[in-house]
Amino acid sequence: MIDLSVNLSGIKLKNPVILASGVWDLPYREIIDFDRLGGVIYKGVSLKPKEGNPPPRLTETPCGVINSIGLENEGVMNFIEEILPTLKESNTAIFSNIFGESIEEFSKLSSLIRDVSGIEVNVSCPNVDKGGLLFGKDPNIVYSITKSVCNETDLPVIVKLTPSSANIVEVAQAASDAGASAISAVNTFQGLVIDIETGKPLLKRGVGGVSGPAIKPLALYNVYQIAKSVDIPVIGSGGITTYQDALEYFFAGSSAIQIGSAIFNNPLAPIQIIDNLKKWMERKGYKNLKELKGKYE
Ligand SMILES: Cc1cc2nc3c(=O)[nH]c(=O)nc-3n(C[C@H](O)[C@H](O)[C@H](O)COP(=O)(O)O)c2cc1C
Repeated sequence: MIDLSVNLSGIKLKNPVILASGVWDLPYREIIDFDRLGGVIYKGVSLKPKEGNPPPRLTETPCGVINSIGLENEGVMNFIEEILPTLKESNTAIFSNIFGESIEEFSKLSSLIRDVSGIEVNVSCPNVDKGGLLFGKDPNIVYSITKSVCNETDLPVIVKLTPSSANIVEVAQAASDAGASAISAVNTFQGLVIDIETGKPLLKRGVGGVSGPAIKPLALYNVYQIAKSVDIPVIGSGGITTYQDALEYFFAGSSAIQIGSAIFNNPLAPIQIIDNLKKWMERKGYKNLKELKGKYE
């Protein structure tokens, strides 16, 4: 019998596969059987509804996509009143992902959200002018935001980091010192695509966030560095499309993983990863994920 369950500082998941924030919305429930997933993280919500950036704001790149959505969302009250009750129909762990333009906004958001398995704090969006990377690159600000969120909620707090910081390990340690239960690593990498007909950026905002297979080795290295430096669990994110990718993340020290852009090409990727991971572990004689974790030290 293979045991795929994980315990992230008290957050119990039936398996380590989590649907990442921002790449899906409720209609995906018709394609992906959410009951099979370890968890789902809803897209970033802010205090007030946000329109996001003007289009074009998503395009393909070699081995992935680049986006500048800019956290379009209907606001936290819509999440609490409309989205959460629907998500609760599924037998999976539900996480909210929050985004604030100030420490006070992060505090307020976390005081409002209840009845989820945890709050993922997004201090890593590359597509906004206020907050986002300005916060996420600075260990002192990440410490303050994490502390203020932890003071406002009894829920587990997961801090989602940007690979754009000068020293991501320092930022992870700041989040851990401030009381985070886990780290998500990493959000998208800043990138650029130019339309050669106009000579201008293809995305209206110019810069965007790159995700998908192109970033996997880069994200994996960040995860590896963080996992050996902090005591709290790391949830790996970046370019995972197959169970082989997932295994690399576990060997590098991830306790769980997030699947993001992979679902654009193959919505069933998360389910296939769970099934194939189990088969691989059976074949290799592993009984649980702890036996895999951090083998590369
Ligand atoms: C279109 C799009 C929207 C995203 N929106 C969010 C978001 O709202 N909050 C967040 O923390 N991350 C967001 N992300 C980042 C993903 O959750 C994920 O961390 C990143 O894409 C790397 O994983 P991947 O390579 O598997 O896609 C978004 C990514 C994409 C492609």
